[in-house]
Amino acid sequence: MNPFSFSTSAEQTRALGPPLGLLAELTHRCPLQCPYCSNPLVLERAGGELPTEIWLDVLEQAAALGVLQLHLSGGEPTLRPDLDEIVALAAKVGLYASLITAGVLLTRERLEKLAALGLDHVQVSVQDAEPGNADRIARHAGGHAKKIEVARWVRTLKLPLTVNAPVHRQNISNLPAIIDLAVDLGAQRLEVAHVQYYGWALHNRQALMPTRRQVLDSVELVERARERLKGVLVIDFVVPDYYARRPKPCMGGWGRGSINITPSGRALPCHAAETIPGLLFDNVRDKRLADIWLHSDAFQRFRGTDWMPQPCRSCELRTVDWGGCRCQALAFAGDAGLTDPACAKSDLHAAFTQIAEAEASEPARELVFRNPRAGRDVEVGRR
Ligand code: SF4
Ligand code: FES
Repeated sequence: MNPFSFSTSAEQTRALGPPLGLLAELTHRCPLQCPYCSNPLVLERAGGELPTEIWLDVLEQAAALGVLQLHLSGGEPTLRPDLDEIVALAAKVGLYASLITAGVLLTRERLEKLAALGLDHVQVSVQDAEPGNADRIARHAGGHAKKIEVARWVRTLKLPLTVNAPVHRQNISNLPAIIDLAVDLGAQRLEVAHVQYYGWALHNRQALMPTRRQVLDSVELVERARERLKGVLVIDFVVPDYYARRPKPCMGGWGRGSINITPSGRALPCHAAETIPGLLFDNVRDKRLADIWLHSDAFQRFRGTDWMPQPCRSCELRTVDWGGCRCQALAFAGDAGLTDPACAKSDLHAAFTQIAEAEASEPARELVFRNPRAGRDVEVGRR
């Protein structure tokens, strides 16, 4: 059955198309405690996680809808004992399955099994190239060494490897060594992603924000490395919005290209969407994925350009960056319906940049590490 056919006009279907990717947050449980985690401050509990049969059904629906890429994420997805079944089903229905993992819980046997079941790609996160600092940032003794071991297994099994390296003021000086590490591991791709400030990272912003000079240096460094490593390593690079002049097209535009499913089954247009008050999120326990994609209140709210205020509404870039990030507009301006303050055309842009410069110029405060208790404390203002 055409998954669109029951619920929308042919015209709308043609205009929107299916999501390209589905991010399955299989669990919020994680052995690491990175202080910039993209999970929400209030983490979902194990008891509320979707059972295997619903995940399998969601993946079948996703493939029927036209989704091509499945990102198996968390928390730490390898904590789910049913990951094997999920990977096998993804292979069966033709989804390109990426495992996004911290790596520290994987055994070689399990990775071999996942590869045999049809896993297509592995992304391993690193917190630094310097083991002591990496373990401090992840708050996990011995974690870095284990990640290196896992990354080498990935290559031995001939799976494509991406190294994901979030950078911030507490590791940015080691960026040359991080690039060297990715080359040494035989990674095809390195994501150098400056921390994006929502949720945990927003709470720790002062302790993570690099200076403008550090950011400019990192831009130059990556450009030189890209030149030097052509044909060896692809480097994706995300600069911090606070020093940008134009916002990023967050998620490729709201409700345009991807769908996130939380551990309990809530379907989100982006990982931080639950911070936006008043949005209604549908759950895959109650509704079909195609129906959610096309009609869910949360997906419709900022889809396209009708919602845009000025200056976006009359800007020539409105269908390029889609007005930037709704969650950033909310976090900084208190209104998700405003132009992203990362845009130089926003009235708030100067204040946005000044905050970054002021915070980066002060000594870093103590980090608040990601764990359920700290998240609850931050939410109620105890931290
Ligand atoms: Fe993008 Fe809006 Fe800025 Fe134009 S005004 S560049 S659409 S954020
Ligand atoms: Fe939600 Fe950017 S993180 S729109």
